[in-house]
Order: sequence, then structure tokens, then C-alpha cells
Amino acid sequence: MDFLTLEKHLDGILSAPEFADYGPNGIQVEAVGKPEIRKMAFAVSSSLDVIQKAASQEADALLVHHGLFWKNVQPLRGSLALKISTLMTSGIHLYAYHLPLDAHPELGNNAPVLRRMGAENPERLADIGFMGELPAEISVESYCRLVDSVYGNNAIHIIPEEIKSGNRGIQKVGIVSGAGYSYFEKAIAAGCHAFISGESTEWVYAMAREAGVIFSAVGHNKSEEIGVTNLMEFVRSQWGLETFFIGEKNPF
Ligand SMILES: [Fe+2]
Repeated sequence: MDFLTLEKHLDGILSAPEFADYGPNGIQVEAVGKPEIRKMAFAVSSSLDVIQKAASQEADALLVHHGLFWKNVQPLRGSLALKISTLMTSGIHLYAYHLPLDAHPELGNNAPVLRRMGAENPERLADIGFMGELPAEISVESYCRLVDSVYGNNAIHIIPEEIKSGNRGIQKVGIVSGAGYSYFEKAIAAGCHAFISGESTEWVYAMAREAGVIFSAVGHNKSEEIGVTNLMEFVRSQWGLETFFIGEKNPF
């Protein structure tokens, strides 16, 4: 597949031009003189480790959720220079899709998690998040087990007293991946019994207890593996490219 054709397809599928993002979506680094993509790596972040692994496995392209360029212009020095020179000398196009991948209702980091948890028709929560109803009200123990099994790790769950004591079950769940804790108040206002994000911060503990809503921090990196692996599967099945995922042991 031609590298520009792939960008056009991905931009269209993810509605990328519709997002005012923190950085450019689409091709961030072009491997000049190498138009054809046959083998493509996928990862959450464009760390040096990820780029070196993509190079050692001779990928023609690397698609990440967190690209190398954000709002500020940076000089190409240190690890940034090394990452870009590795991409260029190895002939790897770097594609980045950030908010469009969080927000996508079928492939993204949020709605598909709710479907895996059993919520059939997730609805939008603010701009990039989703919320949905589990098929039945479940206990706090079952809920925490469900979240941990969907993400494959042990999340930090802040459980308010009234839920801990068994007085209330969990059915309506909101999700905003990554550093989505700032959406917690919106999820509470929308009537969610529980909210999932990647990261957390100090005030979340009190807000969860005061609102009587569970907050689960599953890890920023972990919360955003789902979107890139869904997109990887889509690219493989749609266009027959050879694909592979580069996971990182990033606990945050
Ligand atoms: Fe993120």
C-alpha cells in the first residue's frame, strides 16, 4: 500500500481532520524515497525503545497513539534527534493518531472497552469519552474483577464507603482513556456509578468518595493499547499488510 494512500484511508476512517488536537495526526515523519508499505508496527507511544524494535523487525511504518510532535516546536536534539534519525535511516514512516483514536466508536480506546464489559450501546461522554450500561447491576467485587480482566492488570480502584458496604451496585460506567481524570466530574453529572481512566490525580480520591462513584485508574499506557491494537487488526484484515504490536512494560 502506498504510504499516502494509507494516510488518506486512516484519516477518513478516524475522521482525523475533524479534531482540534494537541499535535498533528497522520504522517509525522516521512521515510523519503520509500512509498510502499508492506510491514507495519503498532505501539502506544513513540519511545526510542519502540522505534528501535520497529527498525530491528524491518517495519516500513510505525503507527502510534502518542507521536513525536505536539504543539511546541522543539529543536531536534538528544533522544528526539536519535528517534528521528533512526526512523529515517531505517526507512520507517511514523503515523500518529491521538484524539481521533480515543474517540472512535468502533476502534477507539473507550467505546470498545464498554462493549467488552457487556454494555451494548455506549453513548458519547463529552468529546472523546463514552459511557454505557452493563446488562445488569453488579457488585463492587464483580465490577473490579471485570475491569481488571478487560485490561489484563490490577487497576487502582477508589471505592466509596456506601458502595463498599454493599448498599449500591454498579451498572452505568464511563470511560475516558489516558489522562482522562478531568472528565470524572462530567461522568458523575451524567449519572455514572463508576468511571475508568488511565491516570489519576490527588483530588480524584475525595471526589469519588463524596460523589459515591468508583474511580479506577488502569494505567495511561494500558488504557490506550486497545485503540492501536484494534486499528492494527483493521489494517491487517482490510488491506492485508503484515502487522505486529510492540507492547511496553510501562506501569504508568
Ligand atoms: Fe494518551
